[in-house]
Amino acid sequence: MSLHLGSDAIAVRAGVIIDTMKSMEGPLLPILHGIQEEFGYVPQDTLPLIAKALNLSRAEVHGVMTFYHDYRDHPAGRHVLKLCRAEACQSMGGDQLAERVKQLLGIDFHQTTLDGSVTLEPVYCLGLCACAPAAMLDGELHGRLDDEGAEELVREARQ
Ligand code: FES
Repeated sequence: MSLHLGSDAIAVRAGVIIDTMKSMEGPLLPILHGIQEEFGYVPQDTLPLIAKALNLSRAEVHGVMTFYHDYRDHPAGRHVLKLCRAEACQSMGGDQLAERVKQLLGIDFHQTTLDGSVTLEPVYCLGLCACAPAAMLDGELHGRLDDEGAEELVREARQ
């Protein structure tokens, strides 16, 4: 889900999530996860709130967020296409697949097409190694993606 809210509304909703989770053991990742679930991304405005609640610096929160590839700092497109970048897929043409998809969409990883239709993200193993190279479009797995498969996947993503 991706919501476009003002910063006050974001602060209120993020505050509830932070308060609910801050006393957990290792609360930072669950809080980031909860916020992304709520807004579809982790708004920049929530970083100081998280930092304050957990007694961390904003840079520490930002560092953790960027270390993990799962968190977005901007709203996603209507569809999210994840390409596997892990070893089994790499060895079966994953780089070629990634280049082809980037070229077809005209964007790089972590970017969204100008029409807002597709966000492209890397992922590190989808558990579909036997059908490498693999991808996931809006939660649905696709395997053995040759050039033709890549074109079909991109067509589907842009709809
Ligand atoms: S390495 Fe790509 S699905 Fe496992």
